[in-house]
Amino acid sequence: MPDEYLKKREFVDCRVTVIPFAASALLPLRKLYAEIAGNALDAGVQIGRKSHEQYAGFEDVRMRWHFANSARAIGIFRAVVDGCDLRRAREIVGHRPDFMRIVQASFVEIVGSYPPGRWHSDFTDEGLGADESATMLTPLFTFQRNFGGLEVTAVERGMPLDFDDYAHVYRYHDGEAVLFDGSAMIHRTQSYRAKAAARRVLVCWQLADTSRRLRPVLKRIGDRNGDPMFFFPHEGGG
Ligand SMILES: [Fe+2]
Repeated sequence: MPDEYLKKREFVDCRVTVIPFAASALLPLRKLYAEIAGNALDAGVQIGRKSHEQYAGFEDVRMRWHFANSARAIGIFRAVVDGCDLRRAREIVGHRPDFMRIVQASFVEIVGSYPPGRWHSDFTDEGLGADESATMLTPLFTFQRNFGGLEVTAVERGMPLDFDDYAHVYRYHDGEAVLFDGSAMIHRTQSYRAKAAARRVLVCWQLADTSRRLRPVLKRIGDRNGDPMFFFPHEGGG
């Protein structure tokens, strides 16, 4: 499929690409988010919660991650991807779609403004190389115009450069997910100012090659970032 080939090349060469999809596919996740807020989760659906680290300048930041903390919870995030064009992500990243699985997923919520943050890479580990994992993000609800996008760079992890000079901003849209190699490429949330009650929510799926060789590496990353990794096959195989 020529378009698939181009997306794959873009992902490998630029470390970032986008996937259009029908935004209505997110409805089960809007429902899940509402159930988290209302403390009304179905039996077996466990969601963990983490807050932003309290480092200097971030004391007032209200940022939280609501992450899948059980097989049933990750199943809801996986089913959305497998049921719409977002499933293409598993073909675009790496070489083994059946082993390219969603290993972690979360809602990333910021309430109010967000100051200039730290440049970072996701899934940072010596044992994990480029094109072996990816982060996929899309708005859960329509963004306000002032909300920050995703600042991506042409900088590989470990390069001693001033990232600000090499960054460009991806702006989020309904019905489009940004798929990027969050492990190999340095990135951050773009800073923005918003009303105190303004709620910016992203859906975040983390994909990784779950073949046997990488499982200990992924396990290590999961232990470090505090949320479990799910390696078992997606529903319907693969
Ligand atoms: Fe990140």
